[in-house]
Amino acid sequence: MTKSFRTLDDIGDVQGRRVLVREDLNVPLADGRVTDDTRLRATVATVAELADQGAIVLVLAHFGRPKGVPSAELSLAQIVKPYEAVLGRPVRYVDWEGAADAVATMQPGDIGVLENTRFFGGEEKNDPAVVARFAALGELYVNDAFSAAHRAHASTEGLAHALPAFAGRAMEAELDALEKALGKPEHPVAAVVGGAKVSTKLDVLKHLVAKVDHLIIGGGMANTFLAARGVDVGKSLCEHDLTGTAEEILDAADKAGCTVHLPYDVVVAKEFRANPPTRTVNVHEVAADEMILDVGPAAVEALGDVLKTCRTLVWNGPLGAFETAPFDTATVALARTAAALTKEGSLVSVAGGGDTVAALNHAGAGESFTFVSTAGGAFLEWMEGRELPGVAALLRD
Ligand code: 3PG
Repeated sequence: MTKSFRTLDDIGDVQGRRVLVREDLNVPLADGRVTDDTRLRATVATVAELADQGAIVLVLAHFGRPKGVPSAELSLAQIVKPYEAVLGRPVRYVDWEGAADAVATMQPGDIGVLENTRFFGGEEKNDPAVVARFAALGELYVNDAFSAAHRAHASTEGLAHALPAFAGRAMEAELDALEKALGKPEHPVAAVVGGAKVSTKLDVLKHLVAKVDHLIIGGGMANTFLAARGVDVGKSLCEHDLTGTAEEILDAADKAGCTVHLPYDVVVAKEFRANPPTRTVNVHEVAADEMILDVGPAAVEALGDVLKTCRTLVWNGPLGAFETAPFDTATVALARTAAALTKEGSLVSVAGGGDTVAALNHAGAGESFTFVSTAGGAFLEWMEGRELPGVAALLRD
């Protein structure tokens, strides 16, 4: 990791000190149960390390988007029990009312979770009054929430200027992995960018063509590029109004020496549902009433060969409509190839963003990647080459 960030190695003696730790506890809940606790697990290293060193650990986090309106549905009180189970330690819930008094009774090594930061309207506005209110509870600030670092909020950015600020272990690991993947990667570098729409990832694609040697485009967005190249994509999801933009991206890639890989065989169906009748065809043979729903096997094999020549891979988005069988086939196959190359030591593989983690886990490949980010929007903004305010605020003066 770039040495210009202060980390827990620089924090000094925390015995008896109140440390505000910004984590991302924004986990999916169904019937009061956490359905994916990856983000909770990601916090353990930092929280346990600080508690073991005798700090009074005060976890700050948002939950959902309450926009300043407190509610039981978006209260972090419901995360406390599952969080205790993940940490294997007791956790105290601290409501905003009477927070200072509650914190004053906490002992070295105690862990508290403060209520949803977004119950204050000023959190998202980075309001100095809210920053001051948070800051008054602690003496030191640790930001461990890369996945919320694209927000310039009071708890993610403002606090870093109000208290001595440090990157937590999960933040450090994210920054380190991202630096290896796109900051100073070993070349050749491949990027897989998938997902439904080009419009959501235009800036990602524009940034990547100047950075990577191979850009592999999959998902619905590949159809827009195919259409730009004159392919008739039938009934496929396609942003026809963006074919001009797609052409510009292809031109920019050409100029930058980046090879763009679009599928040349595809799996098509007349209806989008689980296990409909399908055909595997050349992209030029899609019928007017058919939809492209996955990359074909020949293209996937060729993409695997591309990865074999690469040293670094950054992956965002599935190649096909992976949530509906059998259109997960290409994503699963390429993810497994990437995982095997990573295990062999020939590839550094970093993945992140929304559906990506679910897709890789579905392929049983997530564990073998060098690094899988817990971030959704923050990962995308980082792939766009943007400076994340929560990260920038941690830079040494
Ligand atoms: C996320 O879920 O990606 C982060 O927790 C950020 O949440 P937000 O998009 O509501 O800011």
